[in-house]
Amino acid sequence: MRTETPVTIRLKDYKQPDYWIRHAELTIRIFDHFTQVESHLTIEQNGTGHLPPLVLDGVEQDIKEIELDGELVENFSYENDRLTVQPVKSHFVFKAVTHINPNENTSLEGLYKSGTMYCTQCEAEGFRKITFYLDRPDVMATFTTRLEADKALYPVLLSNGNPIDQGDLGDNRHFAVWDDPFVKPAYLFAAVAGDLARQDDTFVTQSGREVSLRIFAEHHNAHKTQFALESLKRSMKWDEERFGREYDLDIFMIVASDFFNMGAMENKGLNIFNSAAVLASEETSSDDRFDRIEAIVAHEYFHNWSGNRVTCRDWFQLSLKEGFTVYRDAEFTSDMHDRTVKRIKDVMFLKNHQFPEDGGPSAHPVQPQEYIEINNFYTVTVYEKGAEVVGMLHTLVGDKLFRKGSDLYFERFDGMAVTTDDFVACMTEVSGQDFTQFKRWYTQAGTPTVRVTEHYDAENQQYKLAFQQHCKPTPGQTEKLPFVIPVRMALLNSEGQDMPITCDGEFNEQTQVLTLRETTTEVVFSNVSEKPVASLFRDFSAPVRVHFEQSQEDRLLLALRDGNAFNRFDAVQNIYLKEMLALLNQPEQGVSEVIDQIVKASIEDADLSNAMKSVMLTLPSYQLLMDNVDVVDPQRLIAARETLKKHLAVQFAEQWAAMTQSLASADDYQFNAEEAGRRELQGLALSYWVNSGSDDALSYAEALYRAAHNQTDRLNGLRAVLESDETERQQALLGHFYRHWHNDTQMIETWLSMQATADGVTVEQLHSLMEHEAFDIKNPNKVRSVVGGFAMNFKSFHDEQGAGYQFVADMIVKLNAINPQIAARFVKVLESWRKFTPMRSEQMQAALTSILAASDLSPDVLELTQKALA
Ligand code: BES
Ligand code: ZN
Repeated sequence: MRTETPVTIRLKDYKQPDYWIRHAELTIRIFDHFTQVESHLTIEQNGTGHLPPLVLDGVEQDIKEIELDGELVENFSYENDRLTVQPVKSHFVFKAVTHINPNENTSLEGLYKSGTMYCTQCEAEGFRKITFYLDRPDVMATFTTRLEADKALYPVLLSNGNPIDQGDLGDNRHFAVWDDPFVKPAYLFAAVAGDLARQDDTFVTQSGREVSLRIFAEHHNAHKTQFALESLKRSMKWDEERFGREYDLDIFMIVASDFFNMGAMENKGLNIFNSAAVLASEETSSDDRFDRIEAIVAHEYFHNWSGNRVTCRDWFQLSLKEGFTVYRDAEFTSDMHDRTVKRIKDVMFLKNHQFPEDGGPSAHPVQPQEYIEINNFYTVTVYEKGAEVVGMLHTLVGDKLFRKGSDLYFERFDGMAVTTDDFVACMTEVSGQDFTQFKRWYTQAGTPTVRVTEHYDAENQQYKLAFQQHCKPTPGQTEKLPFVIPVRMALLNSEGQDMPITCDGEFNEQTQVLTLRETTTEVVFSNVSEKPVASLFRDFSAPVRVHFEQSQEDRLLLALRDGNAFNRFDAVQNIYLKEMLALLNQPEQGVSEVIDQIVKASIEDADLSNAMKSVMLTLPSYQLLMDNVDVVDPQRLIAARETLKKHLAVQFAEQWAAMTQSLASADDYQFNAEEAGRRELQGLALSYWVNSGSDDALSYAEALYRAAHNQTDRLNGLRAVLESDETERQQALLGHFYRHWHNDTQMIETWLSMQATADGVTVEQLHSLMEHEAFDIKNPNKVRSVVGGFAMNFKSFHDEQGAGYQFVADMIVKLNAINPQIAARFVKVLESWRKFTPMRSEQMQAALTSILAASDLSPDVLELTQKALA
C-alpha cells in the first residue's frame, strides 16, 4: 500500500546501495487466479562494518514467506512499497514467496496478461511488482528463471538468456528454465507464457558463432513476422560493421504483445514488442509502418550493447542509453535508406515535439536533475535531443575518433552501470578535446536561439558573420551559460557552388564546421570575391532555433541550388513559414510569387528523388507555426495554412493531377526507399488535387482505395477522401474498411485513428467511437489511436467551445485509474495553454484544473498536471 505523498528523487542525492544482489533465482508459477513468485537472492553487503537493514522494493506483494539463509523471518516490516529485514551476515541468501495478481494488472507494468498470454514490462520500476528486489539499475545480477504453467494454455515459456531445461510437472503443467549469464539490472528482466507461433532463423556473427533468432506472435499473426526478422538480421550485421558490436547469447527472441505501453522493450535476449511495432504485412502496414518497424527492431537490438552490456547508473542517466541508441538507430536507417530524407524527418520531429517541450512548463535537461515519477521522463528531450547531443559529439570529433571513443566506452564499462559523464570522458580521452563546456547540453534545458547577421565588404573582399546565442529561462533554471554550438556551413557563390573558406574563426577545414562557444562570435572570412550566400547549420548541425534574416532571393538560391540537400529543404520550409506568418498577419495580402516559383521548380526538378520532392512540397505543420508565433489563435492559424494549401492546390491543379497519375504503378508491392518515395509523393499530389476541388480527384482517390493491395495506397486513397467534404462517401469507405478488416488488430487501430484524425471530427463522434465494439479503454494502442489521434487533429482539438480540451482531460482522469503511464502522456497536449488567446487559454487551463479535482491521482498524472499549471 502506498500511503505517502509522492517524493522527489534528486540526482545529487545518488549513493550506492547498502547491498548488492549477485544472483537471482526465480520461480514463477502461473495459476488461473494468481501467480506465485519464489525468489532466492544471493546478496552481499556493499562495504564492511555494521550491517544496515536490507530495504527491498515491492509493490502489491502478498507475502507468504520470507527467509534469510533458510531461517524463517517473522520480524520484517512491509509498508510504503518497501520491505525491511535485518541481515545478520554480510553474505546471505534472501528468500521470498509472494503472490501477485497479473490478471487484474491494467497498468501493464510488472507481470500482466496481454490477451491470452502473460508477459512482463519491467523498465523502469516494474520488477518490484513481480517480487521484492533492489529495483535500481546499478544493482546488476545474473538470473536463472524457472517458469511453470498449464501446458495446453501456455505451451511457450520464455525468459532471458539461454534455455537450459524443460519438462513435465504432471497435472497438465510443465516448466522451462532459462539462464542469463550476463549481469543485468532488474529492469531488463522478462518472462512470457503463451500459446504462440514462432518463426525461426539463424545469424552467424562476425566471429563465426551461430545465433538462433526467433519471433513469437499469436497464431493468427504468424504471417506477419518476416519483415521484422529481416530487419533484425540487417541490424545485427550493421552493428558489427559500424560499431564492432557482436551479439553475445546463443539465442535472440522477440515477442509481439497486443497490450503494451510503449513501442518495444530491450529485455536481455527477449525483446518484447508492441504488436504494432513488429507485425507487418503489405496488406495491413503502410510504408511508414515498415520504416518504423525496421527502426524499432534495430533500436531494441542495439540496446544489447548501448543499454544492456553497459547500462545506466541511475535513471538520471537515461539518455546515456536512449539518446545514444536513438543516434545509433538513426545512423542505421540512414545507411539503409536515404540519409537526407531520414535527417529531414528526424529534424521535423524534433522541431514539432521537442522544441515545444523545451519551451514549455515541463522543460528539463537531457540529464534531468530531479523527478517524482521516472515514467514521465521518457521524453523527446531525453531521447531525441539526447541523440542530437551525441550527434554533435560526432560532428566535433569526426568519424574515426567517434568510433574509437565508442569502442573505448563499450570496452571499459562492459558489465557496468555508468553515467553520461563516463561516455563523454571516452570522447575526451580519444580526441584530446575538452568537453567541459559542451556538457552544458546535458545539464541546461531550453532551446538556444542563434541570431545571425551578415556584412559583406566588397572593397576588402571580406564577409563577416556575427552569431549571438541566447537561451530563455526554463523552470528552475534562470541563468543559462553559452553552449558549444557546431555550425556546419558553406558560403555559396551566385551559381550556388561552395566557395573556398579562409577565416579567422574556429573553423575546421576537414569537417567544414565552425564552433561557437561564446554569447557572441564574430567571424571574418577573407578573399571572398562576391557577396556569398551563407548556408548555415547544414544537416541541422545543432538543435537550435536560427534567426537569420536572409533575403528571399538568397533563400531561393539555397532552396534551388544548395549542395546540401537538407538545407535546400530547410530553405523551402523557411519560405513557406514566412509566407504563412505573413498570411496570418495580413490575410488579404494574397500569396507571394516566390511560393509559386519554388513549388514549380520543385515539381519540375528532375534531379530530386520522389521522397525529396515530397518533403519539399509539404507545408510546415501547425506545431511549427505555433512555435513561431507569440500568441496562438487557432482559427487564424488554420485560415493561413489553408489559404496557402488551397492556393497551391488550385494554382498547380493540372500538375497534381498529372503527378498523381504518372506516379501510379501496377507492379507488385515492394518496400524500399524508392518505391516508398513514389507512393508518398503520389499521396501528397492526390491530396493537393482533391483540395483543388476536382471531382475527378475524388473518384481517383476512391478508386485507389478500392483497388489497393497494399496499405499505403489504400490509406492514400482513404485520407484524400476524408479531406473532402463528401460525408456519404467517407462513411461508405469507413464502413467498407471495418467490414473488411475488423478481424485484424492493426487495421482496427488504423480505422480508429483515421476517424480521430479526420477533418471536422466532433467530441460526440469520439464518444460513439469509444462505445464501438472495436474500442477497449484498457488497450493503449486503441486509446492512442483515438485520444492521441484527436490531440493531433489541430482543427477539431481546438474547437471553439473548448469541448476538445475537456474531452482529453476527462479521458486523463478515466485512464488514471486504469493505466497511469498512458493517462499521464496526454497531459502534455494541454500544457501549452499559456501560448493561446485568452479564451482558449482559460478553457485549457480549466480542463487541466479539472484533472486536479479528481481523487486518487497517480504520481504520474499529478506531477505533469501540477507542472503544467505551475
Ligand atoms: N527502453 C525503451 C522502452 C521503455 C521506455 C520501456 C519506457 C519502459 C518505459 C525502448 O528502448 C524504447 O526506447 N522504445 C521506444 C522506441 C524507440 C525506437 C525510440 C518506444 O517504445 O517508443
Ligand atoms: Zn530505447
